[in-house]
Amino acid sequence: MDDTDNNSLAITLRPYRLSDAEDFLMYAGDERVTQFTRWNTFTSEEQALTYIKDFCIPHSYCKSICINDRSIGFVFIKPHGDNDKCRAEIGYALAAEYWGQGIATRAVKMAIIDVFKEFTDLVRLQAMVLVENKGSQRVLEKLGFHKEGLLRKYTIHKGTASDIFMYSLLSTDPMP
Ligand SMILES: CC(C)(COP(=O)(O)OP(=O)(O)OC[C@H]1O[C@@H](n2cnc3c(N)ncnc32)[C@H](O)[C@@H]1OP(=O)(O)O)[C@@H](O)C(=O)NCCC(=O)NCCS
Repeated sequence: MDDTDNNSLAITLRPYRLSDAEDFLMYAGDERVTQFTRWNTFTSEEQALTYIKDFCIPHSYCKSICINDRSIGFVFIKPHGDNDKCRAEIGYALAAEYWGQGIATRAVKMAIIDVFKEFTDLVRLQAMVLVENKGSQRVLEKLGFHKEGLLRKYTIHKGTASDIFMYSLLSTDPMP
């Protein structure tokens, strides 16, 4: 899937390849990015390769955000199972040198359009965002997500019980 307009960099979403390891390390190895992710900062290309092989490639929806086919970030959407198959978690990150150009917002929108088509039981996407992560909250708000509330000390982030905001978007919600 691609997304182009005259005023912005063309981005595509595609499945990960083992050959993305070096590019993956560019963002997964950067503390400006990993301060807000669940995983710790990657330290080697080998570690990146293992993660791509064991997590990204087998994942039901984990896409590399690309410019000119080079990976500059990721977006994943993980549907739950059984009685919770109506909802899925969304996560994303972008290499710091590309921040502030609207790229994450465009990429996440492309992924949302994809998954509501692909997973027919899905009606709710949810995102859990650290209270400190203003940039990510803004991405979700620009996409029409609803801020449902504050979950106090909901998750251990980098060793500390942390407050998060819960956001959701329903398949019936308007998306800008
Ligand atoms: C969050 C992230 C994906 C945003 O990527 P991006 O391409 O810069 O996002 P966009 O440009 O589409 O939108 C970012 C918005 O946040 C705003 N923003 C960024 N930092 C901000 C801050 N500290 N306070 C307030 N707003 C902020 C930007 O101004 C922009 O809003 P605008 O378009 O109204 O000006 C990127 O910063 C990132 O990878 N962060 C680290 C990983 C992460 O946090 N992942 C999400 C975990 S829930």
